[in-house]
Amino acid sequence: MRGLFTGSTHERGRIVNQIQPNVNGDILSSLRPHTLDDYIGQSEVKQKLKIAIQAAKMRSEPLDHILFAGPPGLGKTTLAFVVAKEMGTNIYVTSGPVLERQGDIAAILSSLNDGDVLFIDEIHRINKAVEEIFYSALEDYKVDVLIGKGPTARSIRIGLKPFTLIGATTRSGLLSSPLRNRFGMTLELQFYSVDELVQIIKRASSILNISIEESAAKLIAERSRGTPRIALRLLKRARDVATVKGREIMDIDLVEKTMDILEIDRLGLDEVDRRILRTIIEIYDGGPVGLESLAAALNLEIDTLREVHEPYLLQKGLIVRTSRGRIATDLAYSHLGYSSRIRGGLFDGSHAESEECKTQD
Ligand code: ADE
Repeated sequence: MRGLFTGSTHERGRIVNQIQPNVNGDILSSLRPHTLDDYIGQSEVKQKLKIAIQAAKMRSEPLDHILFAGPPGLGKTTLAFVVAKEMGTNIYVTSGPVLERQGDIAAILSSLNDGDVLFIDEIHRINKAVEEIFYSALEDYKVDVLIGKGPTARSIRIGLKPFTLIGATTRSGLLSSPLRNRFGMTLELQFYSVDELVQIIKRASSILNISIEESAAKLIAERSRGTPRIALRLLKRARDVATVKGREIMDIDLVEKTMDILEIDRLGLDEVDRRILRTIIEIYDGGPVGLESLAAALNLEIDTLREVHEPYLLQKGLIVRTSRGRIATDLAYSHLGYSSRIRGGLFDGSHAESEECKTQD
């Protein structure tokens, strides 16, 4: 990188990386779509992006700053790469927690070229001092940097080349309004439908040269919690089982066996999700329970509970969020084989599958 950045190569790499797609050989990134047309799902987001990209290109202007919001694994990073590719620009990647000093940001920003994309993952985790430097950078392409210390310190203003910031966040509510308001577009990513996940699984299978039957792809899709990252991970695990069993084609029996091994149930819940529901039901009588108490009882990081597990449990209607805390719904009781929300009405909490366990009461 050029410009102000005076740190060592190692230090620079810690803070920001310029990424060329697929150089790291990571299988998941090799599966990433490179264009909006190849990108499956999120049709409303794609439509907004297409218009913005086309308009920016027609005016020969940089694309407006974009904020992608939504649960992990839905494609925020992938979309940032797609946007850079569609714009024909470089993309530099960093994340909120590593941006500790104003000087780091000034150095990164001043080294960007016209139209370059700076992608900041977990942007809600940048600290206040760092956040403030972005206000003028995003609005006027300028940063004020303090040179020196104490009474001789002075501030100099550095002009930046017009660039595009793409932020990604799992918690858009934590962004301060001055920062949030400086994004030209805030795009909320939604969970994917089973049909969309089937298409993603088939696309990945053909790239990886795996034969998978339609019903097997559908089973993986149904258990992927609406999340492509999970679908691709399950596909890889099923491929492992196929390899070990010497199978050329992945069929539904093989995928079912894989799900049994991974303990992923009919709704796509894993052991941690079920433990969350069982804890609400058994320890907190079905709730309400606050997130902090629940995280402590489960020995889970509160952020993991809130960002990884809770959105899907909410979306599936297994829990509801009230002002007094989280409550397990009747669906959670029946899915786990509890008889009802009657206190102590435990039927058989050790089973994840509900159909056979449902009781009539
Ligand atoms: N791989 C991962 N996510 C994808 C998506 N949304 N479309 C196509 N391929 C993908």
